[in-house]
Amino acid sequence: MAIQSLNLSRSFGSVMAVDNLNLDISRGELFALLGPNGSGKSTTINMLCCLLKPTRGTARIMGFDINRQPGSVKAVTGVSPQETTLSEHLSPLENLELMASLSNISRTRARQWSAGLVEIMGLGDRANDQVRKFSGGMKRRLSIAMALISDPAIVFLDEPTLGLDPQARRALWEYIASFKGDKTILLTTHYMEEADFLADRIGIIDAGKIAALGTSLDLKTQAVDTHTIVVNAWNLTMRALDSVRAKFENVKINGGCLSITGRQLDFKETVDYIHSTGAVIRSAYFKEPSLEEAYLKITGKELRG
Ligand SMILES: Nc1ncnc2c1ncn2[C@@H]1O[C@H](COP(=O)(O)OP(=O)(O)OP(=O)(O)O)[C@@H](O)[C@H]1O
Ligand SMILES: [Mg+2]
Repeated sequence: MAIQSLNLSRSFGSVMAVDNLNLDISRGELFALLGPNGSGKSTTINMLCCLLKPTRGTARIMGFDINRQPGSVKAVTGVSPQETTLSEHLSPLENLELMASLSNISRTRARQWSAGLVEIMGLGDRANDQVRKFSGGMKRRLSIAMALISDPAIVFLDEPTLGLDPQARRALWEYIASFKGDKTILLTTHYMEEADFLADRIGIIDAGKIAALGTSLDLKTQAVDTHTIVVNAWNLTMRALDSVRAKFENVKINGGCLSITGRQLDFKETVDYIHSTGAVIRSAYFKEPSLEEAYLKITGKELRG
């Protein structure tokens, strides 16, 4: 197990930010913590990388205890915090080489890796500019490079794509996906699409507790027990529509498409029935529930960005 938390808890006064968290993350797994503002995502990451002490419980990172062996934990982890911590008067290369000098890698390797990471993060043409002149998104990309420079076994990314433009976000997803399986990654996000695209498993956290846990598909199927078939049909008369409504319980019309929801819908039977009313079927598909629908069902709340 790469990360194992055991009743990990942290309170701030009367606020229980993280409440008895028990989480097992395997080596090479990419795990996403998804949850609204203030649900305890950053507090969890900060405890796991030894930036913050738990008030109760503990965690093991590659077998090292966060309370008793913080030095060993830090040696095997890299973190990109929610609030980036960069030296503003240094260049990206200098920031990365400085970070590398804190770990055990040689200067030559540090230089090579720094140059490589700067390129990968799309900062090649700004490699020697001072960081204080960077935009928010550029700083975020550098912060991710900082988490990777020591080639750690475990990488914590707290909202890695916050403030990135759509293109940079996509590029970063591709990059994170490229070292999936090789490193263990725990990331937090507000973007369901991001969790859906990247994560092997997703934990939905709310008020410091895990509200649901599983693959994206697990969460969708656990939460949503009905199916929807969307049919785009021509020549649908009022009479045909009435007969479809009489046959199926939940029929809606959205943007010219019929949307039929039920528990045990048979695709062919449904489409054939609509066809039998005289309508011409242009297209029809099963609509997969979105992670957002699952989130709503599980927590009864909308994700607040
Ligand atoms: N240093 C602190 N002092 C007091 N309260 C804190 C501190 N850090 C976090 N909290 C509280 O702990 C709770 C969880 O905060 P945390 O930052 O972990 O949430 P989060 O899920 O990361 O939210 P966001 O999505 O906004 O980043 C919140 O109620 C927050 O106000
Ligand atoms: Mg946070």
